[in-house]
Amino acid sequence: MSSASESSVDEERAQSSSLLRNSTMEAQADHSKTKRYNTIYTTVTVLGVALIILTFFWLSHFLGGFSLSTPSTEFNWHPLLMIIGMIFLYSQSILVYRTGRNVPKFKLKLIHAIIHIVIFVLVILAQKAVFDSHNYAKPPIPNLYSLHSWVGVLTVLLFVCQLLLGFTSFLYPGASKNFRACILPYHVVIGYSGFIMALITSALGFMEKVIFSLSNQYQQLPASGVLVNLIGVILVIFGLLTIHLVTNNDYKREEGSEEGVALSE
Ligand code: HEM
Repeated sequence: MSSASESSVDEERAQSSSLLRNSTMEAQADHSKTKRYNTIYTTVTVLGVALIILTFFWLSHFLGGFSLSTPSTEFNWHPLLMIIGMIFLYSQSILVYRTGRNVPKFKLKLIHAIIHIVIFVLVILAQKAVFDSHNYAKPPIPNLYSLHSWVGVLTVLLFVCQLLLGFTSFLYPGASKNFRACILPYHVVIGYSGFIMALITSALGFMEKVIFSLSNQYQQLPASGVLVNLIGVILVIFGLLTIHLVTNNDYKREEGSEEGVALSE
């Protein structure tokens, strides 16, 4: 073999071994990103379940539990259903594309849409509970006077607009691919904004209710005050971790030809 052809064989070998090294390094990096995602996702889920359990405990142990006929305890459905729907399920639904990276996209879209419908039902029930608790109280309590309720109305409106926009653009078979591609960035930004607004609204709601129920005693930090503070801290950490997971490009699903495809296709 001539020295020229020997050196070209050597070059090819060097090239293929460097390609192999690169792809091994990429696979290792991917593996460590997936591991990091799974660890943070598990933490988010555990914190979300803890939020629901602690809120349930606070409402049943310190605020008289749940009923459908007594206004003060009918109210208690409001925070519980909001925490389950607008906080826990909302977080799960925006994370679904990253958690199910290897699941076909149309299935994820279906799961995302179903979770949103469940949230919508919970929001309606939660709102009915709080309006009833005001309207049937003796004497009746005025509606929509507080900062919490104003930000809450904005949050619900944004959520409903997002739901309608999502269904008309991604479910309706008549919507063109161009239209869907145009809508997608807005859908994503409005979705994240809705989640952040739900976190803010809930924090305001806890603050308001703990002051209503404890008044000046809150300053002595009784057990129920400590519990609500703890719920608030968990809410903040839960929110920040969810936002980290949905905005970090490391955990983004690799988009293929399915991008822009309607749920129904
Ligand atoms: C994203 C979640 C939430 C939304 C969208 C929301 C929305 C609302 C709205 C629109 C009202 C007004 C109802 C009326 O005037 O009759 C309200 C009332 C109330 N909410 Fe929430 N809420 C949420 C979560 C919470 C949480 C977690 C708590 C914690 C205890 C809470 C506590 C209250 C209280 C005490 C009232 C009655 C006083 C008031 O009108 O501000 N809310 N909420």
